[in-house]
Amino acid sequence: MFTTALPQQTKASSFLPYDLFGAINTLKKELNAVVLAHYYQDPDIQDVADYLGDSLGLSQQAASTSADVIVFAGVHFMAETAKILNPDKLVLLPDLDAGCSLADSCPPEEFAKFKAAYPDHLVVSYINCSAEIKAMSDIICTSSNAVRIVNQIPEDQPIIFAPDRNLGRYVMEQTGRDLVLWQGSCIVHETFSEKKIIQLKIEHPEAEVIAHPECEPPVLRHASYIGSTTALLKYAQTSPASTFIVATEPGIIHQMQKQTPNKRFIPAPAMNNCACNECPYMRLNTLEKLYLAMKNRQPEITMPEHIRVAALRPIQRMLEMSV
Ligand code: 13P
Ligand code: SF4
Repeated sequence: MFTTALPQQTKASSFLPYDLFGAINTLKKELNAVVLAHYYQDPDIQDVADYLGDSLGLSQQAASTSADVIVFAGVHFMAETAKILNPDKLVLLPDLDAGCSLADSCPPEEFAKFKAAYPDHLVVSYINCSAEIKAMSDIICTSSNAVRIVNQIPEDQPIIFAPDRNLGRYVMEQTGRDLVLWQGSCIVHETFSEKKIIQLKIEHPEAEVIAHPECEPPVLRHASYIGSTTALLKYAQTSPASTFIVATEPGIIHQMQKQTPNKRFIPAPAMNNCACNECPYMRLNTLEKLYLAMKNRQPEITMPEHIRVAALRPIQRMLEMSV
């Protein structure tokens, strides 16, 4: 698993220019860099990105880019996937502490024991996992292709699905398959309050609930539409509804609002009166850190070559099965 210490950063330059957008765009040209960003990033990072997408779209971009440097505005497993696909490119993550609770919920040693208990099972892992888990998997999937990928596996082939139990349960429902689930979850998507969503629906009877499949079943039950971040964005654009209660990280509302300024998007509230529906890892990246990462060419994503090679095969299978 990756470690978070970064002692060199204290030596690196921390001077910030007045026009960060301009400075980042200049560095993109100087480094031949591409900035890839996830929808959960702060709005200003989304606005400076060359490509904005969900985990599948970001992996596809990382697999096809001709840039020399990939600046990944997302979390560690996403940047790690880009490095697995591009061993000769410099892959930068603005804050190396931008991890993922779901990836952390599946430690490699415990998963190896779990997998050994089901020797005849194929391992399908959600991309939100470490390179070590990917290296132990047969096929990777994301929230946008999980159902499609499981449907392509012969019906008599038993499957372990890891690490997200909620996405796994959703895939079981959609495919009618019986999957062995690793019991991981995401701290953001398990925090939405069913009670507050019901209250919002009473206050806004015209609203549709749209949800990411990482949400817990009591929240998914209220959803008119369930999908990946890209799928939610497309649905919000095409649905005739004027108001949406959005049960995923609220960073995506920036794009929803940009695409359809006349519609109303209400973030689904957390159980406590906190901002726990914001991913604390995604939000570690800032425009300032993104600029400094490009200027200093660090923090860089690295991993042992034997792990990278083993993790590449199931990612390539996913990309082949997603065309
Ligand atoms: P997407 O597949 O929609 O990008 O989901 C990523 C994620 O981390 C959800 O929490
Ligand atoms: Fe991980 Fe959840 Fe954050 Fe997505 S929202 S990156 S699954 S902690």
